[in-house]
Amino acid sequence: MKRLFTGLQPSGALHIGNYFGALKPFADTYATYESYLMVADLHALTSQKNPSTLRADIFGVVRSYLAAGIDPQKSVIFQQSQVQEHTEMAWIFECLVTVPFLELSHAYKDKVAKGMEANAGLFNYPMLMAADILLYDTDVVPVGADQRQHIEYAREAAAKFNNAYGETLKEPQGIISDTVATVPGTDGKKMSKSYGNTIPLFGSKDEITKAVMSIVTDSAGDRPENVFKIHSLLKDTASLEALYESNKGKYKALKDALIDDIEALVSPMREKYQTISDEDVRRTLKEGSEKARHYAAAKMATVREKVGLSL
Ligand code: ADP
Ligand code: TRP
Repeated sequence: MKRLFTGLQPSGALHIGNYFGALKPFADTYATYESYLMVADLHALTSQKNPSTLRADIFGVVRSYLAAGIDPQKSVIFQQSQVQEHTEMAWIFECLVTVPFLELSHAYKDKVAKGMEANAGLFNYPMLMAADILLYDTDVVPVGADQRQHIEYAREAAAKFNNAYGETLKEPQGIISDTVATVPGTDGKKMSKSYGNTIPLFGSKDEITKAVMSIVTDSAGDRPENVFKIHSLLKDTASLEALYESNKGKYKALKDALIDDIEALVSPMREKYQTISDEDVRRTLKEGSEKARHYAAAKMATVREKVGLSL
């Protein structure tokens, strides 16, 4: 079986854009690989400085994946900070790459341009991500399009290491989900927690209703395009066309139908979410982190040997 590795930053409640763009594609494919799903809590520290928010978000992201049906027996779900080999490996990469090489990072430049503090962790972020991936002899890394360059960094980190010390690390392939359409938010722009235009994935029916009712509709046409686009994620084309045809101009009725369809999708997940205790999350992460550490420790022993740290 090929090995799949991906990471998620614990950063707030998930929305239906995250579901269709990340969670569902992962849930649909992970079992055909030997899968590693890592909670990137050390990466989150580059921006998150509030301990209780960080802790709550770590619980939240694991609960979300379990509620979406990811089976912890079929994938290794673990916490980055619990496997210390990641930071050690990152340091070794940092000693192999140059500052101008890291300065090419779009993610870094974009984040600083948006006003985020240019801390050294943010600057070195791609080397920690390279360590995450390369410690596990990963074959494939499914990520969103914004992470494309980070996969390139990981491949180059592997090549630089192999060049300096001999063939040791496997160059991974990214699986970039270009085919997954960007889910629009209530204002028609990309749904994103930073734009405040989200429909929450684990929200109550009232919260979902409020969000759907706030979807901006264009009063010029018969068909509210923003409502239709979100709806098309939930219904096949034929029944969707029929529904919008028979409700021409009836925006309220169409929004009500969308609420019902979102409810039908999320209510079983929401119920499951509520049954997952903090203890369940701790146990999942503890078991996963032990498995991950086992693999990473063996790889790190080889790396120490190659670079001349082990005596
Ligand atoms: P946000 O934009 O809300 O901060 P993140 O950047 O944390 O979301 O994204 C987490 C994952 O969800 C990524 O894999 C990303 O590609 C996916 N994703 C986020 N928003 C959308 C969207 N509107 N449509 C499709 N996928 C999305
Ligand atoms: N940087 C990724 C993101 O923000 C999260 C991440 C950290 C990751 N380490 C990873 C993704 C390793 C894939 C593989 O989405």
